[in-house]
Amino acid sequence: MSDTFALVTGSSGGLGAEIASCLVRLHGRNVIVSGRSEQRLRPVVERLAKENPAIKAIAIPADLSEMDGASRLFAGIAERGLVVDELVNNAGASAPGSALNLDTGVVRSEIVLDYISGVTLTMLFLHHLREHGSPAGRVIQILSMAARFNAMPNFAHYNSAKKAFDAYTKGIEYETRRAGVGVQFHRVYPGAISGTKIATSGITEKNKGIALTAAQVADAIVRASRQGRRVIIPGFVNKLAYVAAPIVPQFITDRAFYKTYG
Ligand SMILES: NC(=O)c1ccc[n+]([C@@H]2O[C@H](COP(=O)([O-])OP(=O)(O)OC[C@H]3O[C@@H](n4cnc5c(N)ncnc54)[C@H](OP(=O)(O)O)[C@@H]3O)[C@@H](O)[C@H]2O)c1
Repeated sequence: MSDTFALVTGSSGGLGAEIASCLVRLHGRNVIVSGRSEQRLRPVVERLAKENPAIKAIAIPADLSEMDGASRLFAGIAERGLVVDELVNNAGASAPGSALNLDTGVVRSEIVLDYISGVTLTMLFLHHLREHGSPAGRVIQILSMAARFNAMPNFAHYNSAKKAFDAYTKGIEYETRRAGVGVQFHRVYPGAISGTKIATSGITEKNKGIALTAAQVADAIVRASRQGRRVIIPGFVNKLAYVAAPIVPQFITDRAFYKTYG
């Protein structure tokens, strides 16, 4: 077994914890789990150790809604002398609501979490690989179907942050390929997921019937990444939505978002 680690952000619960579980069970990977609270990470570490006693699971807490959260997470990795060769940028949040009513602090910290920390972690990971002379690495960016819509009233900052992260990833995927850096990027576009905390924002209740469980989505992501798929869209309905979302006329999607979440 290799001594390198997969770092999964936002893995104290929801999709991140299920991705960590798949990596441990299906691929015997050592994992670093991360979230804001050490207390919430502890049961995840215990679960992973039970699922595969041969692996190492380590918790490193960090608040990725803070501008220096990503650097502090990588500083924690360096302090422990760990080598990471897989990054799953999964931590994210979405408070729905109109810019007329939302708190500016909440919106700003979610943009840092959903976009700026993802960019910073990706860069720090590429630098970390270079420092350790690692010949190959993998980055799995958990985006959202929200990244495919041109605009999403009442989810404007979430939609724009995920779109920006999507565009950023496409750009550096090209840069690294051209530079001959052996890093494989995977862009993931989940639709509604049931049973996660983001679900409390109304996404899953409003999408009953088509929402997949976090375990189903995690399994699809981990399997597809090992098959080398650069674009990963879990679920058949989401594959249709991926194609339709950018081309449906804006007045139709505006009305649909207002009807569902207004
Ligand atoms: N749920 C959906 O319907 C859906 C659909 C499409 C895409 N996604 C994407 O999937 C990813 C996972 O979402 P989820 O549904 O699993 O959400 P979730 O259940 O709310 O889990 C979010 C994870 O992120 C962590 N987190 C939240 N704020 C953080 C912060 N400031 N710093 C560090 N970690 C933080 C949470 O840990 P702590 O609270 O312990 O810090 C938790 O582990 C997100 O990127 C989301 O945008 C979700």
